[in-house]
Amino acid sequence: MDFDNEVQRRRTFAVIAHPDGGKTTLTEKLLLFGGAIHVAGAVKSNKIRRAATSDFMEIERQRGISVATSVMCFEYKGLQINILDTPGHEDFAEDTYRTLSAVDSAIVVIDAAKGVETQTRKLMDVCRMRNTPVMIFVNKMDRESKDPFDLLNELEKELKINTLPLTFPIGMGGTFKGVYSLYEHRLQLFDAHNKFRVSEDGIMFEDLNSSELEKHIGTLSQKLRDDVQLLQGVYPDFDAAAYHSGNLAPVFFGSALNNFGVKELLDTFCDIAPAPRPTLADVRVVHPFEEKMTGFVFKIHANMDPNHRDRLAFLKICSGKFERNKPYYHVRLAKTLKFSSVHTFLADKKSIVDEAYPGDIVGLHDTGNFKIGDVLSEGERLQFKGIPSFSPEQFRYIENADPLKAKQLAKGIDQLMDEGVAQLFTSTFNNRKIIGTVGALQFEVIEYRLEHEYGAKCRWEPIQLHKACWITGKDAAQLADFKQRKHTNIAHDKHGRDVYLSESSYALQMAQEKYGKIKFYFTDELE
Ligand code: G4P
Repeated sequence: MDFDNEVQRRRTFAVIAHPDGGKTTLTEKLLLFGGAIHVAGAVKSNKIRRAATSDFMEIERQRGISVATSVMCFEYKGLQINILDTPGHEDFAEDTYRTLSAVDSAIVVIDAAKGVETQTRKLMDVCRMRNTPVMIFVNKMDRESKDPFDLLNELEKELKINTLPLTFPIGMGGTFKGVYSLYEHRLQLFDAHNKFRVSEDGIMFEDLNSSELEKHIGTLSQKLRDDVQLLQGVYPDFDAAAYHSGNLAPVFFGSALNNFGVKELLDTFCDIAPAPRPTLADVRVVHPFEEKMTGFVFKIHANMDPNHRDRLAFLKICSGKFERNKPYYHVRLAKTLKFSSVHTFLADKKSIVDEAYPGDIVGLHDTGNFKIGDVLSEGERLQFKGIPSFSPEQFRYIENADPLKAKQLAKGIDQLMDEGVAQLFTSTFNNRKIIGTVGALQFEVIEYRLEHEYGAKCRWEPIQLHKACWITGKDAAQLADFKQRKHTNIAHDKHGRDVYLSESSYALQMAQEKYGKIKFYFTDELE
């Protein structure tokens, strides 16, 4: 197959949801229908349950599982499908945001009884930032749920995107009979007693007025006819361009646990989801069909084995063909590297590949060369955009609890920051080191990993801060004045850039109002 066809047949996406929405269940069912696994239960949940937040072994175990399930690839209908897994726990939201930088589309899972929840809203904001095309799967229709019309309204309003139902439910909970596909005019019947069948093709129903409908869904027939008529009056035909530009979300209804509606979702996904899209870099836009290879690291995973401190860096290929053992240019380090162990992932297995194409994710064995956001190219110096660190909202001073292990502590902190676990700031006022995170769980993870992977001990001390934001200012005098007045709240990030550690939202707001020529950034991607 030629290069262009290889690129054209890649579909790289993530399944995202508020915890407990059904992300893990749906992912597993997609793998099941895609033929990548053969029994349900083969992919374990990688979520860290709230109850287990202080159980470090559990965290470690889960991290181990998530390396295998970070990327799941399979072939389906001639397409190469790459599903990127995202952590379930909201304290790892930043990991999820970065993973979203590596996908060409996303499937958002909604719990039909709960509707749009906080985490869904935040994840959708990130998709909107990048115009990522999204499809919505309204899950758990086998339970009592919200009215589907109300849900569609809620999705539009809360997720700030136009929606278009491509399937529509017939009944719900105890009376759930199935879904009707408005896209294919097909009736898919729900059989609560036969949930582990890999669904048949359904019944074609070009004309819902046929009396045949009664035979299948009885008294719900008229309601379906009325619903479909209403939907056809309200919603325009599917517009692929609107979906690809991130302005229209096709909606599906089903029940992942019952294997229901998943095949329709996967089949429609294969029909309409975008192939690899161009990626925005600082100097230009990179197109996937370009001959020269470019790619960026969006995730780094530490080895579980404390005796081997090597790591796995996940590289998203943006253009050209990636080849094993070929030298590539590491832009930040300005040096050439070759990779002999290049991994790809299939459900729970890792295997070595010789080549990979735009859209693919490869795992590169790393001995400390990579940081999140690093770029490999064939010599061009560029930096991809949209892989930022976000303003942390939780802060603690980190202190060395074992003076004999100062070196180990410094190295551990340095590497964990490169992995994107948290961010390190150094106060310009007292030189103390401050760790900033998005979630509280990270402090426990850092402490545990410093001890078990680096043999270092740390101690936390409280610091009351609201948010860290990066500051720049063209007016040097105003910037200097601000830094002088706020000198107890100014720090440097790992790259020596100025950061304002605001003590409250009020202080931040006042600073923004008073210092109009200073720019306050809430991600570290400073223009
Ligand atoms: P997450 O990854 O988004 O956090 O969600 P996950 O798939 O783990 O699903 C959360 C819970 O919802 C699980 O139940 C799962 O079995 C259930 N679930 C998923 N899809 C459906 C569905 O279509 N219908 C119904 N009724 N339930 C569904 P749990 O009891 O929390 O976990 P488990 O013990 O079943 O693993």
